Amino acid sequence: MMNTSNMPRKAGSASGGKILIIGKGYLGTRCAQSWDDAVITDKIVETVEDVEKLIDEHQPDTILNAAGIVGKPNVDWCETHQVETYKGNTLLPLIIAETCQKKGVYLLHMGTGCIFYGTAPDNQAWTEEDYANPVAVYTRCKYAADLVLSKLPNIGVARIRIPLDCQPHPANLIDKLASYPKIVDVENSITVVEDMIDVFHQLLEKKAEGIYHVTNPGSIKWREIMEMYKKYVDPSHSNDWISEGELVELGLADKKRSNNVMTSLNLPKLGIKMRPVKEAVEDAIKKYRDSKK
Ligand SMILES: NC(=O)c1ccc[n+]([C@@H]2O[C@H](COP(=O)([O-])OP(=O)(O)OC[C@H]3O[C@@H](n4cnc5c(N)ncnc54)[C@H](OP(=O)(O)O)[C@@H]3O)[C@@H](O)[C@H]2O)c1
Repeated sequence: MMNTSNMPRKAGSASGGKILIIGKGYLGTRCAQSWDDAVITDKIVETVEDVEKLIDEHQPDTILNAAGIVGKPNVDWCETHQVETYKGNTLLPLIIAETCQKKGVYLLHMGTGCIFYGTAPDNQAWTEEDYANPVAVYTRCKYAADLVLSKLPNIGVARIRIPLDCQPHPANLIDKLASYPKIVDVENSITVVEDMIDVFHQLLEKKAEGIYHVTNPGSIKWREIMEMYKKYVDPSHSNDWISEGELVELGLADKKRSNNVMTSLNLPKLGIKMRPVKEAVEDAIKKYRDSKK
């Protein structure tokens, strides 16, 4: 469905059938807004029976699990709420997976690329074949689910990383960076939300199994994003730059954050492409500016 050189289009007549999105949060809602063939539920799911009820009610062909616990106001919350974190990020995906296996419904689960810290063992970008090295409670719990789900049939795991969106939202990297007086000068792989929405739809259509790194090809420095922000959104914006170590030393975060560069070996095998990161970010920032007018 995606016109990768330009923009994702709204899915109208997907061959993948009806999609049920579990988890009416930021990213589940963004997908639901773009897909004509999807319904989204805000029902809290705790048991296999809860998921069975949803499947019986909606009769989906595929499910996107966009539910999870990301921590509020930020991921540091998970460090002191371990039970809630594993329930939402480890147990919940397993419960949804068990029900999907039982009912013969394909499941696409949202994972995170933040399970990788630093450089990959071979000093290249992290691929779907690499074992991760999660540090924080949130990333350990997310990875635990990946390890199980990635070997089950009729299930895909789509790992995204640090969403950057053309629509304002507190979890949008543009809004986050613009709100920080001090920013760490790091380089990362990220996911542009419009591209994510399109790739997820293709994975659901294809009922793709295994792990997929849904990050835009290449890497980008926060400095480059802020230069584009100043160019297109707010020329008067300013911030200070700090080192990675200073983030925790200055008390701006409790736990070291993941920084990494990822790549996908598995999307190209399905013929799925994403726009190069700098092109996609520039496009998103221009649209973000227009959305504020
Ligand atoms: N945002 C990111 O930076 C990012 C990056 C990588 C991966 N991800 C993954 O993407 C997924 C969606 O994240 P998001 O940013 O959209 O987070 P979000 O806005 O917090 O959305 C998650 C939603 O799941 C709901 N939820 C929690 N437990 C549930 C349960 N037992 N049953 C049904 N719904 C439940 C939450 O409800 P409440 O609000 O009521 O708790 C919330 O509405 C998560 O799996 C997350 O790990 C996010």
